[in-house]
Amino acid sequence: MHREDILIIAYLISSVLFIVGIKNLSAVKTARRGNFLAALGMFLAVTVTLWDQKIIGYELIIAGVLLGALIGSVMAAKVAMTGMPQMVALLNGFGGAASLLVANAEFFHEMHRQGPANYDPAIATAVSIVLSVLIGGVTFTGSLIAFGKLQGIVTEKSVMFPLQHALNALLILIAFSLGIFMAMGNQGIDILASVGLGFFELNILAYTIAGIALVLGVLLVIPIGGADMPVVISLLNSYSGIAAATTGFVLGNTVLIITGSLVGASGIILTQIMCKSMNRSLINVLLGGFGQTPTAAAGEAKEITIKEIGVEEAAMVFESARSVVIVPGYGMAVAQAQHVVRELSEILEKHGSEVRFAIHPVAGRMPGHMNVLLAEANVPYEKLLEMDQINDDFSNTDLALVIGANDVTNPAARHNEASPIYGMPILNVDKAQTVVVIKRSMRSGYAGIDNELYGYDNCLMYFGDAKEAISKLIGEIKANAS
Ligand code: TAP
Repeated sequence: MHREDILIIAYLISSVLFIVGIKNLSAVKTARRGNFLAALGMFLAVTVTLWDQKIIGYELIIAGVLLGALIGSVMAAKVAMTGMPQMVALLNGFGGAASLLVANAEFFHEMHRQGPANYDPAIATAVSIVLSVLIGGVTFTGSLIAFGKLQGIVTEKSVMFPLQHALNALLILIAFSLGIFMAMGNQGIDILASVGLGFFELNILAYTIAGIALVLGVLLVIPIGGADMPVVISLLNSYSGIAAATTGFVLGNTVLIITGSLVGASGIILTQIMCKSMNRSLINVLLGGFGQTPTAAAGEAKEITIKEIGVEEAAMVFESARSVVIVPGYGMAVAQAQHVVRELSEILEKHGSEVRFAIHPVAGRMPGHMNVLLAEANVPYEKLLEMDQINDDFSNTDLALVIGANDVTNPAARHNEASPIYGMPILNVDKAQTVVVIKRSMRSGYAGIDNELYGYDNCLMYFGDAKEAISKLIGEIKANAS
């Protein structure tokens, strides 16, 4: 078999592994396997490419693999669940930087091979190089800003200044125009010289486009508030895929085109799911500045009268409920209460109650946040129900337990047109016979608005840190049983 054939077959196998891996990632049950298959595909693709290209010696490849595996393992082991979005941002950024560097290297390589005065690139390659540099650059600095915002290094607040969008549009226009001249090779340089822009040589063009892309990445992300970063990260994830795919065209590498397209498409689908679940449009995300929810727009702020209960009353409510639906939110993640939540569910089941979990698509701060936490605490997958599966069932439920979730249960989203979350699909916990809400205070959640649920007749507030409150509740139920 020829070297070329081995390469094609290996690329085909890794592409299949990526596709099956992504398919597996779509369900919690198979997600680990999906991750493993995709990683295997990547390992195969990288190894075969390096073997084929004879780029560097095997010693260096092995050293790189070991070093990368070490850094990756330490990062993965150390990162807290709440720090996951930052880590994803950083990894996206590296992907973008790689595309920018590889495409630029290929440009300089080809230019020197042909000689700058005769440089006449194939149009498809030239366009791919420009796109890789532009998208890769935006992804790199944009992701670094997103990382900084989530890590608290860069201000979480939206940074806006006059004519920001106009400046961004102008920079995009300049970058694309220069890109067209760069793609035309020395012909483009001649045209630029004829209009008095003779200082632009091919290498200056390449550096200028990369520089504009890097500045654009910063400018496009700074106007977006920290709390909206997950959507931005998912979008940048998509960009990093598109940059990789265009780099695949530059290098004529099929597996890079396939992987890049998969990442680009899945990133944009995820962005859309998140936007829909938060009732925001994608264009709103692309323009930035949407991270500031106008709290005053929530309509007439009504005085909410609440019913507060202590641990004894809470235990009584739980003991008499036959069907319980637990709704976890960001507060459960912050309190790291997933293990005591699982313990509570087991105790209730022992008492003969049916216990299920209702997961809102944007509960928490990133997609799948709640599923991962509950899976980590060994809550069986089949007990985790998506919003659409459970929503009609709340009216047949004795008790809905809301743990550190706020916006995703606010009935105002259904009927208050003045509310910033109007139209956002919510979990219909208010339809349950009784609702118990565990949170520390009456403070609002991410959207910064009051939750009218707390004033409903069937809603009981059990204040406290989620982990502590549930531990006390477990103690009380156990004491009553003995
Ligand atoms: P939130 O609306 O942010 O509410 C979380 C609640 O948890 C807060 O009201 C807070 O109240 C409580 N809390 C915080 N720490 C706690 C602790 N230690 N113990 C008990 N409670 C605690 O969260 P949610 O309902 O999960 O909604 C998610 C929000 O994030 C949505 O608005 C969504 O649009 C947005 N968002 C989500 C995503 C994704 S992909 N998940 C992406 C971007 C934006 P106290 O301070 O009173 O305790």
